[in-house]
Amino acid sequence: MITYTLGLLIPASVGAAALLNTRADAATTVKVMPFGASIVEITCWRAYLWKKLQDSGITNIDFVGSHGTPAAGCTLNGQTVNFDEDNEGHSGAKVTDYANNNSLPRWLSAAEPDMIIMHVGTNDAAANVSTANVFSAYDKLIGQMRTANPRTSLIASKLIPIDPSLFGQSVADKVNDYNYAMEGWVKRTTTAQSPIVLVDLNTGFDYKTMTREGEHPNEKGDVFMAEKLFPKVKDQLVELSVQKLMGEVMGELR
Ligand SMILES: *[C@@H]1O[C@H](CO)[C@@H](O)[C@H](O)[C@H]1NC(C)=O
Ligand SMILES: *[C@@H]1O[C@H](CO)[C@@H](O)[C@H](O)[C@H]1NC(C)=O
Repeated sequence: MITYTLGLLIPASVGAAALLNTRADAATTVKVMPFGASIVEITCWRAYLWKKLQDSGITNIDFVGSHGTPAAGCTLNGQTVNFDEDNEGHSGAKVTDYANNNSLPRWLSAAEPDMIIMHVGTNDAAANVSTANVFSAYDKLIGQMRTANPRTSLIASKLIPIDPSLFGQSVADKVNDYNYAMEGWVKRTTTAQSPIVLVDLNTGFDYKTMTREGEHPNEKGDVFMAEKLFPKVKDQLVELSVQKLMGEVMGELR
């Protein structure tokens, strides 16, 4: 009831980003975990997304995860891009490995993310894992995320395409099957308390010009991913920030 009253006083539309800049302390920092396999671990879309967020005035963010990569850092048009490199990308990982290994709960309790940006499943496609098994794994992982934090905000991305001449048409088809199923999964699984937002990183991604070797994004591909992710990540960040700010204001009023 009281939260609702405050909600009316501080609607999300009223310059939330500006409000937050005056209050961007630890209590309003939003922790974001990039999660997946090599397309998360060794790539630079995280750097470009970080830069776009900073440039748009969203500075109360902390990328989290058990390690910082890529080892060589990131450049854009030849200029070094400084960013928070922490992430939970593990090269070669399948989403079904994460589900079977129970590795996620440990990382979640160490990093305590508010938001998770997920791109994972390409290695499952390469290993011909069935769509049903992949989505059982996603189900298990969202359960683990919500156990760790009932308000987890998940950005679920459709997988970028891979070059069929390199990986075989059946693997490329699997990527499309998962992506199609992802639409229904997001609709079924999202909740008001723990929203899942779909980002389509597949449509418009050209594996011929946007990958290094048919799988991993090159600079152009990383820029494409960051630009596609940015509006939806930003909206969710503002939402989470307002929740945190209101929690802080409530604490001061008590
Ligand atoms: C899962 O466990 C296997 C076998 O121990 C290991 O090779 C793999 O790297 C682990 N993957 C993940 C994603 O935890
Ligand atoms: C992938 O798995 C399906 C179902 O088990 C099987 O029918 C198909 O032949 C497999 N494809 C490849 C390329 O191994």
